[in-house]
Amino acid sequence: MKMLVITLLLFSLSFAAIASEGSHTAEAKKITGAFFEELKDELSKALKSGGPVTAISVCKSIAPDIAEKHSKSSGWDVARTSRKLRNPNNAPDAWETKVLLDFEERRATGESASTLVYSEVVEEGGESYFRFMKGIVMPPLEKMPCLKCHGETIEPETAAILDELYPEDKARGYKAGQVRGAFTLKKKL
Ligand code: HEC
Repeated sequence: MKMLVITLLLFSLSFAAIASEGSHTAEAKKITGAFFEELKDELSKALKSGGPVTAISVCKSIAPDIAEKHSKSSGWDVARTSRKLRNPNNAPDAWETKVLLDFEERRATGESASTLVYSEVVEEGGESYFRFMKGIVMPPLEKMPCLKCHGETIEPETAAILDELYPEDKARGYKAGQVRGAFTLKKKL
């Protein structure tokens, strides 16, 4: 009897852990989706009104602002990262680099862009964190304007501004379908 109670207790505890991990993942996915939608809206508005020059400023100042807004309202740490950076402030840590490499490998073996997700509970400095990443795959130009600023051919006017703002820029030369980077979210448990 005692054994049964213990087994049941352990079972329900692990079930609760899985359930709470599931709800963290669901929340992280929601935040990521909202962040991306907002960014796309701001980008297309800026491209329409002022072209790439204005849109670069959207990426430069509005993207971090949107990330910050979502961080404040949700209690998560929300950001974007990549292995080929434009802004060095977005550099990945060791855990993020590992996940980005995993996304690239999964993509190379034909995994769809929509399922490039990874989450894990990690211990850092004696604290537990729920960490989540969602891959960002370069869409074709017909769908979204991303390649205008990250692709193989960039208009000279746009390239000149990027050169000036980001002398260390590595986020160019992408083709549609490649992993550009990821949204990265973190929450203290
Ligand atoms: C008008 C030019 C422009 C367009 C269009 C654009 N970006 Fe960017 N992108 C930038 C700039 C500028 C930065 C650097 C932002 C910063 O300083 O944080 C950036 C940064 C990023 C980053 C963060 C990692 C890094 O390299 O610093 C990702 C990921 C990214 N862009 C993906 C995309 C995606 C996906 C799209 C299409 C939805 C897109 N970009 C469209 C200019 C652009």
